[in-house]
Amino acid sequence: KFMTAEPFRIKMVEPIKKSTKEQRRQWLKEAGYNAFRLRAENVYIDCLTDSGTSAMSSHQWAALMLGDESYAGCKSFYKLEESVQDIFGMPYVQPTHQGRAADYIMAKIYAKEGKYAIGNMHFDTFRGNAEVLGALAVDYVIDEGKDASSPSHPFKGNIDIDKMQRLIDEKGPENISVVIITITCNNNGGQPVSMQNIRQVSQLAKKYNIPVVLDSARLAENAYFIKQREEGYQNKSIKEITREMFSYCETATMSSKKDGLVNIGGLFVTRNKDVFALANQLAIVHEGFVTYGGMSGRDMEALAVGLQEACDEQYLEYRINQVKYLGDNLKEKGIPIIEPTGGHGVYVDGRRFFPHIPQHEFPSQRLVCALYEEAGVRAVELGACAFGSKDKETGKPIWPELETMRIAISRRVYTNSHMDVIANALGEIYKNRDNYRGMKLVYEGPITSLRHFTAGFELL
Ligand code: F0G
Repeated sequence: KFMTAEPFRIKMVEPIKKSTKEQRRQWLKEAGYNAFRLRAENVYIDCLTDSGTSAMSSHQWAALMLGDESYAGCKSFYKLEESVQDIFGMPYVQPTHQGRAADYIMAKIYAKEGKYAIGNMHFDTFRGNAEVLGALAVDYVIDEGKDASSPSHPFKGNIDIDKMQRLIDEKGPENISVVIITITCNNNGGQPVSMQNIRQVSQLAKKYNIPVVLDSARLAENAYFIKQREEGYQNKSIKEITREMFSYCETATMSSKKDGLVNIGGLFVTRNKDVFALANQLAIVHEGFVTYGGMSGRDMEALAVGLQEACDEQYLEYRINQVKYLGDNLKEKGIPIIEPTGGHGVYVDGRRFFPHIPQHEFPSQRLVCALYEEAGVRAVELGACAFGSKDKETGKPIWPELETMRIAISRRVYTNSHMDVIANALGEIYKNRDNYRGMKLVYEGPITSLRHFTAGFELL
């Protein structure tokens, strides 16, 4: 089995609590069978998200002490700006309090009422912003990326160029306001987008004067996959690859809570001076002054360092291989996952895991509950509840193509022994899969696309 040991040692530990199945059954019930509603202290291994959950390095903790908290023009901003310019190869940097704030500014600038925003798979926060603005957000990921049981493909995050061309031909280029490429593609497995695809999308968009934006929360992981899997990039450094990726876009947003290796923060980065001027003023209204945008000086210091660490190849090798280690372990037990494993987690195919539970009885959500009950491991549903929607006229439910449970792996936090605990627990559940029944949704908030965060369920 391929093993890459951690390129760090542990200097401080955070105790986590083990509990009994009995206790967990009770806590699940109290949480309405919704993992978001569990208390984190009652979770043993937390794989809800890889967002804001990284462990910082000693260099980052040291940098924190240098935070300059001046309102305007603080030193920490200039350090962050330099670090971002180095990785993105773009001149203009606006910090934000987290990724969705950068999405908001981006949507205000690039999404237009009644016009299309093409993406591989838009992340929820851009989609939400776009919908509020009356824009039409469409997902044009390649077919292989929409099917959790499709065979291995090196770049399942790619945009389907033919589909994009067809929409331009049908609706006219004036009705497409932006193309947004999410790297890596979060919704279908943390799957990468190839350099060739980014280049082709950009060339096609340029022909019609349509701006391209990269949603780049996991930019270093995407670059690592390009280096590993794409012809011509084996001898390039990670930063040469990131700079080339961004050379094909006008603007990038980033949730720095992922590949920034920090707990909070976001970025809006652009090469367009006019767009930057607009972003600055939107930031002033919603985030904070231009040189802090909702981040404290110390947070910007830690991010400046974290971005560089995320582009370190030894770190990335360890990171990607830990996710693969868990994926391989699950495959050995016959558990159906999206293949190949992506950058930030393993996605279990709920349909194939529980073939007897129909989608309207939430098979992946059932699996989330089973995994928590079995071993105190918290994952997240990305399926019928999170991505389900309703027909605007009839109110009839529309079920999503992908039906998965995401086991997100925090960066530099858990060891492979933790991965073994997760795999063994899922192995047990898989052996007894016929004994599990589905679930019923008994509560949802007023906005369907956000219902998974507060929903309540009952066991059938
Ligand atoms: N874009 C992508 C691709 C994301 O994955 C996220 C967050 C955001 C934007 C928003 O950033 O949380 O800093 O405001 N994804 C998290 C997740 C929440 O669990 O996948 P944020």
